Amino acid sequence: IFAKVELAPRDPILGLNEQYNADTRPNKVNLGVGVYYDEEGRLPVLKAVQVAEKALAEQITPRGYLPIEGISTYDKGAQALLLGKDNELSKAGRALTFQALGGTGGLKIGADFLKQVNGSATVHISNPSWENHRALFERAGFKVENYPYYDAATHGLDFGAMKTYLEQLPAGDIVVLHACCHNPTGVDPSFEQWEQIAAVIKANGLIPFLDIAYQGFGAGLEEDARVVKLFATLNIPVFVSSSFSKSFSLYGERVGALTILCTSKEEADRVLSQVKRVIRTNYSNPPTHGGKVVSMVLNDEKLFALWEQELSEMRDRIRTMRAQLVAKLKEYGVTKNFDFVLAQRGMFSYSGLTKEQVEKLRNEHGIYAVNSGRICVAALNSKNIDAVAKAIAAVL
Ligand code: LMR
Repeated sequence: IFAKVELAPRDPILGLNEQYNADTRPNKVNLGVGVYYDEEGRLPVLKAVQVAEKALAEQITPRGYLPIEGISTYDKGAQALLLGKDNELSKAGRALTFQALGGTGGLKIGADFLKQVNGSATVHISNPSWENHRALFERAGFKVENYPYYDAATHGLDFGAMKTYLEQLPAGDIVVLHACCHNPTGVDPSFEQWEQIAAVIKANGLIPFLDIAYQGFGAGLEEDARVVKLFATLNIPVFVSSSFSKSFSLYGERVGALTILCTSKEEADRVLSQVKRVIRTNYSNPPTHGGKVVSMVLNDEKLFALWEQELSEMRDRIRTMRAQLVAKLKEYGVTKNFDFVLAQRGMFSYSGLTKEQVEKLRNEHGIYAVNSGRICVAALNSKNIDAVAKAIAAVL
């Protein structure tokens, strides 16, 4: 059976990590994968996480199976982050949250469930989108199309084309939207534009699937959830995949969630029963450790405040690096205006570098970026920024 198996290409993002790790050049810089590194170039272990880890280590408990939907306090905490504490949907039993294996896991459970209940629909993702969106929904059995999003000429959003495209979609089609910190462009609609998007989704009977993997990296935890809250007012089915990988710097723990908003409690009960079957037949139930750490932080006022503070420091440092990158590019003689980098939000900058320029950066300078030109600004620091700016100036 393996004779016919073709060699698959490397993953466009995680495959870069493999190449980076194998690179022996001492000054190599990894601006590929969406991971936050601190000023020292290290992957941080957040203080809030350390406190929770220590507390957990002191009361080592047996590891039975978790419920299929995960740790209830984790789910509750994840839901409150999206919808706000004491929100009407949660109180009415209309919001379901499942602990998932990262944001990717949340997307996958949602996609499998949608395939079961709405299998003939087409999934629409932004052009461009996270590299894995298309592959994930195609593997779940969906046809996937692109809706207009990024305007390369303005380095902004082509809102008119996006809205026109959404307006002509048939009822039941699924629209994947980045609730904040769009990956890969860093370009988000304004809130007024979101209101128009939500109105089209509702009027046309479309199914929104919000992907929020960078909550806290835009303007703040609450501000970044504003779009989720907006969709929660529509009284339609809404899917949300969220992730704590970046916001807790717990990438390897696979801590994410799938939240589904239903139009009644009775509907939610039926949906819950079916999504549990999807999970059970995929991986049975989620792992304990990362979920316990996150749950402890989300449900303890002091730890939560500490976490929020640390998150805001990460956010501020990324902003500083954006400003420094723009300044350094000018310093190294780049005449092209890169001010758009300052307006982009989250970890990424869609730099406008071509695939050839990205390859040159990698081959000649040991600087890794995604072929689309996406660079992870959260991996810049005061020690590597000169080398990066100089190299970009050279390839331009
Ligand atoms: C990214 O876009 O780099 C991150 O979301 C990591 C991943 O899984 O691709």
